[in-house]
Amino acid sequence: DTESKLQQVHKHIRAFPDFPKKGIMFRDICPILKDPAALTAVIDLFEDHVRKNHLQVDLIVGLDARGFLFGPLLAQRLDVGFVLVRKKGKLPGNTVTVEYDLEYGKAEAEIQEDAVAPGQTILLIDDLLATGGTLYAACELMKKQQAEVLGCMVVIELKELNGRDKLKPHNVFSLVQY
Ligand code: PRP
Ligand code: ADE
Repeated sequence: DTESKLQQVHKHIRAFPDFPKKGIMFRDICPILKDPAALTAVIDLFEDHVRKNHLQVDLIVGLDARGFLFGPLLAQRLDVGFVLVRKKGKLPGNTVTVEYDLEYGKAEAEIQEDAVAPGQTILLIDDLLATGGTLYAACELMKKQQAEVLGCMVVIELKELNGRDKLKPHNVFSLVQY
């Protein structure tokens, strides 16, 4: 059931203090990927959320790099396509870019201009919500492409950084909160 799946996911997250910088508690999702049942639980929980809320999704949009680990699996379950939001300079052809701040640095996010068509409905997916800077940048990209963001999905939410507020009015769905 849902509760045991959530426990399964929670059990497979490791904490590393002071990585990659002093004062950051790094939440590591690698054990989830190493355990097929835990990874299935993550995708089951995301799929349940989409189906329970009757979200009519055209595309799953995943964030570089750890959003790429979960996004395509969910997209396959929902029988929809997967689109990549990448760090700047990685995508060929015409692209659209936005700059953003991280919990520990600065970066630029990019998408191929033709990846999402105006009016398409999308769900954003990443491993973790911290300040919300990354997902906010992805929302900006979607706005530029006139796509409709149905919500953001993450495995982990770091509550004290208030990323959820930064993303308003978009809905955030998280599996595990710290
Ligand atoms: C991490 C994480 C999220 C983002 C969350 O990625 O995977 O994408 O930070 O932080 P925010 O909510 O404050 O924006 P990172 O940029 O470290 O890159 P990586 O996925 O390539 O490791
Ligand atoms: N990305 C931003 N903050 C993070 C954290 N505390 N752990 C893992 N990934 C992160």
